[in-house]
Amino acid sequence: MLIISDIAELEEALRIHRTECKHLSLVPTMGNLHEGHLKLVNQASEISDFVCVSIFVNPLQFGPKEDYIAYPRTLDEDISKLENTNCSLLFLPESKDLLLNIRECKADPYLSSILCGKTRTNHFDGVVTIVNRLFELFKPKSTYFGEKDYQQLMIIKEFITRNDLNIKIEGISTEREESGLAKSSRNKYLSSDEKEKATLIYKSLCKVRQSILDLSSLDQALDEAIELLEENSFKVDYFEARSRVSLKSSNDLEEIILFCAATINNVRLIDNLKV
Ligand code: PAF
Repeated sequence: MLIISDIAELEEALRIHRTECKHLSLVPTMGNLHEGHLKLVNQASEISDFVCVSIFVNPLQFGPKEDYIAYPRTLDEDISKLENTNCSLLFLPESKDLLLNIRECKADPYLSSILCGKTRTNHFDGVVTIVNRLFELFKPKSTYFGEKDYQQLMIIKEFITRNDLNIKIEGISTEREESGLAKSSRNKYLSSDEKEKATLIYKSLCKVRQSILDLSSLDQALDEAIELLEENSFKVDYFEARSRVSLKSSNDLEEIILFCAATINNVRLIDNLKV
């Protein structure tokens, strides 16, 4: 696995490899890799002969009161994990190089105004700005994102379509602990007691899904789910049912996806579940 930090060196390596490889794919990450990320790399390697991974904790997508400084950085472990995959190239840019003269990009106004966008102002603009920069550098044929960040996935899909980027984007299903808790870098912040409580997010999503399938009242199921989380020390940011296609509010059983974001002891967790 090639490990490159310098942008000119990256461009040279990609130039050489482009003449030899047919299908370059890119897995953008912020590091602290877990099975969810490795699944993206493994999926990419099924159709790609040159899988590239980037690790960059993107300051543009963190709000002033968010965890940019504290975000877990575990480079040595990340490298060892990637060495056991088919990753061909790991890109570890310096902030000053990657952000130099970067073109600011905008996420779709509707998609970025709902769910996490309600409280995380500018977050998705920061995401598309950095992802676009990575796309410019790598010019991938395909790119892979986790469905745990379903809203992000939809926003990047829309960005690719709107800008005619000719990149195939794949969303990969969420990896979970045995308890059902979605794997996330932010789980690192949780005490064992909080981790136990955090399983209630997935359990509540499953319970609401069951109510929908039983044709019980959706509003009542959502209210009960919020109440249960609040009784267990969570501050619930949202618990909503939307269309998995448009992210508009929906009660069409065929296309509902449930979304939850909740904070426990300043750790904000998100998860979702298709019905
Ligand atoms: O999902 C993430 O880890 C980040 O939002 C991403 C897509 C790598 C952009 O910084």
